[in-house]
Amino acid sequence: MTRANLAHRLHDAAEEAAHCTRCPLYRDATQVVFGEGPANAAIMLVGEQPGDKEDLAGQPFVGPAGQVLDRALAEAGLDRAACYVTNAVKHFKHEQRGKFRLHKQPTRGEIQACRWWLDRELEIVRPKLIVALGVTATSSLKGKPVVLSRVRRQILDIEPWRVLATTHPSAILRLRDSDEKEHAFRELVDDLRFALEFLKAP
Ligand code: URA
Repeated sequence: MTRANLAHRLHDAAEEAAHCTRCPLYRDATQVVFGEGPANAAIMLVGEQPGDKEDLAGQPFVGPAGQVLDRALAEAGLDRAACYVTNAVKHFKHEQRGKFRLHKQPTRGEIQACRWWLDRELEIVRPKLIVALGVTATSSLKGKPVVLSRVRRQILDIEPWRVLATTHPSAILRLRDSDEKEHAFRELVDDLRFALEFLKAP
């Protein structure tokens, strides 16, 4: 299949997803945030769910967590434009507190319901490596809850996919101590370097 055909299939999947009612999250979100990037990308980055900025923009990882991710990718020598970037859950789950919309973690059922769309993206892009950013993405790909520290920086065989689990950029943003923050960021960069080495291996 040519890259244009693959891109066409992704476009169709995104149009279908725009009308998704597979779980209740569509009710309070502005829109579906489908993945974006080359349809034949060797690497797929999977986050948790769109945040406030992503929900408004309709694009994944364009807010503060996206800035951390972009910086880490650049330091690791990975070109974001060459990656397919998506989320385990495609609608923003939140609660309104005054004028703020606060992120809420998706439930197992919501993650499972949205696996339908992640599977569509995976079947089309067929990446050589999936980088799971955080516990929600890793659990979604595993099909069951995982402890991130037990599976981090290993190439997991989740047939037919190879998955590298790492921290979520938002977890770095939440750290208050600047040394801990820097350390967590370095670890993310190292994990992404490891991903790049895997991609380059014959
Ligand atoms: N966090 C995510 O997991 N995904 C995004 O797209 C943005 C923030």
